[in-house]
Amino acid sequence: LRHLLTLEGLPRETICRLLDRAGHIRDAALGRTTQRRSSLVGTTVCTLFFEPSTRTRSSFQIAAQRLGADVLNFDASTSSTRKGETARDTLKNLEAMGVRGFVVRHAEDGAVEALAAAAGEGTTLVNAGDGRSAHPTQGLLDALTLRQAKGPDFSRLKVLIVGDVKHSRVARSDLHALRTLGTGEIRVCGPASLLPDADTLAGCEVGQDFDAMLEGVDAVMMLRLQRERMEEGLIASIDEYHNDYGLTAQRLTRAAKEAVVLHPGPINRGVEITDEVADGPQSLVLRQVSNGVAIRMAVLEMLLG
Ligand code: CP
Repeated sequence: LRHLLTLEGLPRETICRLLDRAGHIRDAALGRTTQRRSSLVGTTVCTLFFEPSTRTRSSFQIAAQRLGADVLNFDASTSSTRKGETARDTLKNLEAMGVRGFVVRHAEDGAVEALAAAAGEGTTLVNAGDGRSAHPTQGLLDALTLRQAKGPDFSRLKVLIVGDVKHSRVARSDLHALRTLGTGEIRVCGPASLLPDADTLAGCEVGQDFDAMLEGVDAVMMLRLQRERMEEGLIASIDEYHNDYGLTAQRLTRAAKEAVVLHPGPINRGVEITDEVADGPQSLVLRQVSNGVAIRMAVLEMLLG
């Protein structure tokens, strides 16, 4: 594998190998503040982000540094992007400086794939989120988090994805990972205005009644309401959205007793999830974040090591 652009079509063995490796890295790192390895010594990795990020960017930086790489954090807001330089020219110029690995986030669907097509032979790209299309390392870290909580047999799991599925690259990558890993039942729930096309939802049970869809699920994957990608009028009001699709402690009792709750962040507290649930005993939100470092180490090691 030269680039990681999407989980769609990625073989199950490759996904399992990445999850195994990340699980091993995470176990080895437990109880230590840092664990430095040397597989990327001499390699320069650039986090090339044209959209904001806290978790993905920071965890890729930590992951690359823990593998011994030099890391360049490209800040679009203070770069020549502001003068109109294209993403392609930016990439080619950074390549000319010796950058070999690019972790790219962009607002447009397909932008990272287009940059990968323009990149030189020895260059590797990882998609850190493009438009609403794909966020493959989030899909992997969510799968790892579920596997740690529920075991490796996904065929026994009922998983519910809730909220703004239409605008969510996380949901698309989660769906690819869950299908490839053979998840027993995948349910998707949200208002009709925030559900994507039928192809995206193939094989899923789809509904708009959150309380009914929650019955007996083993995991609830909440999504952020992506107001920055949303046209006016897709939801009536934030209060109504919270009333219909907000995960409260009361609602969560409908799920299986040991059900776990995931959210990719950033959280709109009090909108898609209450503080009580986000910070409660069933929440794996911060476990997802720490798994993000291990997954990104496994991905960088596989592509660049
Ligand atoms: N989950 C996620 O992609 O978060 P950031 O936007 O902070 O990177």
